Amino acid sequence: MIESAGPEPSRSRLAAGALLAALAAAAIAAPAAGANASIAATSNTSGVLAAYTLVVPSSISKSRLQARVVIATGIPCPSLNVVSPSSSNGVAGRASAASSKRSIAMQMRTPGATTDAAFSSIRACQANLPTGVRSARVGKVALPANLPATIDRIAVLGDSGCLIEASTAQDCADPAAWPLARISRSIANDKPDVTLFVGDFYYRESSCPSDLSGQCGGSPPPISGLPFKDTAYGWLADAFLPMASALSAAPILAGRGNHEACDRGGNGYFLLFAIRANAAAVCAPTASGEAPQTIDPTWAVDLPISSSRTLRTVVVDSATQSDTGDSELTSWAAVQRPFYRAAQSLSAKKSGRESWLLTHRPLFGTEAVEPGTTSSWESVDQTAAASGLIGNFNLLITGHAHQAEVAQIPGQPAQMIFGNGGTLLNDGEFVLPPYGPMRDSTGQPLSPLYPPYPNATYLWGKLEFGYSIATPLKRGGQWRFAFKDMSGKSFESCTAIAKNARCG
Ligand SMILES: [Fe+2]
Ligand SMILES: [Fe+2]
Repeated sequence: MIESAGPEPSRSRLAAGALLAALAAAAIAAPAAGANASIAATSNTSGVLAAYTLVVPSSISKSRLQARVVIATGIPCPSLNVVSPSSSNGVAGRASAASSKRSIAMQMRTPGATTDAAFSSIRACQANLPTGVRSARVGKVALPANLPATIDRIAVLGDSGCLIEASTAQDCADPAAWPLARISRSIANDKPDVTLFVGDFYYRESSCPSDLSGQCGGSPPPISGLPFKDTAYGWLADAFLPMASALSAAPILAGRGNHEACDRGGNGYFLLFAIRANAAAVCAPTASGEAPQTIDPTWAVDLPISSSRTLRTVVVDSATQSDTGDSELTSWAAVQRPFYRAAQSLSAKKSGRESWLLTHRPLFGTEAVEPGTTSSWESVDQTAAASGLIGNFNLLITGHAHQAEVAQIPGQPAQMIFGNGGTLLNDGEFVLPPYGPMRDSTGQPLSPLYPPYPNATYLWGKLEFGYSIATPLKRGGQWRFAFKDMSGKSFESCTAIAKNARCG
């Protein structure tokens, strides 16, 4: 799947009433996951369109969690109401009158001023969750309130939105063709402690092709004339409505994909999912009307696995680069490199701590190809930028290629791809490239600056919609990844030990 932005869409603004009707219909079609997830009911009672909890570094929120809501423009940010076990209660976890309740004011996040009308219908609000909270609510809507003391189950998914380009589209109204809501409900049924999202939420980058009209589920189009593709209504349709179940089930660490580059869905990403405060202007068009090129700073968060074991997840933003940088070495590699240098520093070895690199583009990934075709290692710019800087990591957790994949370069952290979260899958078969990463198709090194890697000794891939559930095994650095289909049925089990992963 070539991830091009597609040509400029024609001006096609739906009337506000038609949009709201489409969204209401979509809300009814979205799965219910307990009382938390009914966005339609929520919006009727409190004006809250979506409620979720972001995983953030402890430097931002001591609990590593930040509550977010999306509201309609014109109403104030609501309060976040939390219940903590009272310190005088003395009995952990018992609900009692001794529980203490607090109300926390949420702060407004406003869209970038130069995003014109694209986000004028919504605002976002945020508040850090205190540590040790038992439950959290906004109005009648419950949000994931805490990270457990030990994490047993991690959901992983990415590349989730309904693809609409100028000449092709998924059928966003057909759950078999675009199964994100089913995947989301299956994730909720698995009761993860935390969800890792590897980027690429937003795929509604065009109005529905005229010959496919009716197949896009009434999808809100981009606003023509703006140097980016996303809108508030598009984010509701592509992420918040279908992902409601998963968002109500667990806090989400929301990585940024190239579909969230500033000339695509970046404005919504920085308004809704970026970890930093006052981020709305990061992707907003410049004074000259251009989309900026940004890389968000590298960050990390520690997830407790047991009393003696911590998983450090280091997040590198690989959203921005030219698409030729997936197949050719360009000058972007040098621009990106400091962000991997920061990742190397954050992943420094420490007793009891293991590290995963979470980034959108795979460093050692290969896409499914037509039978008889030669395959290649992709995201060349990122592989070069990370050269010599990823030795501390056990695993590379990525998306971007629309498939599930595990690849092993000797001596390197295993590459795992979770790009099968709902958007149109790749097709073809999985074939080992003839040479290792950082060599060209004739076997010659791509650049004297970046030493080539040996070829992979293992490659597994599958073209099936779904997600994965990672569970820690008893010993440090050991994990099982169940790759599951949209209904939650496992179709492959992979074991990771230190830097090595094998499936089957
Ligand atoms: Fe993608
Ligand atoms: Fe991507």
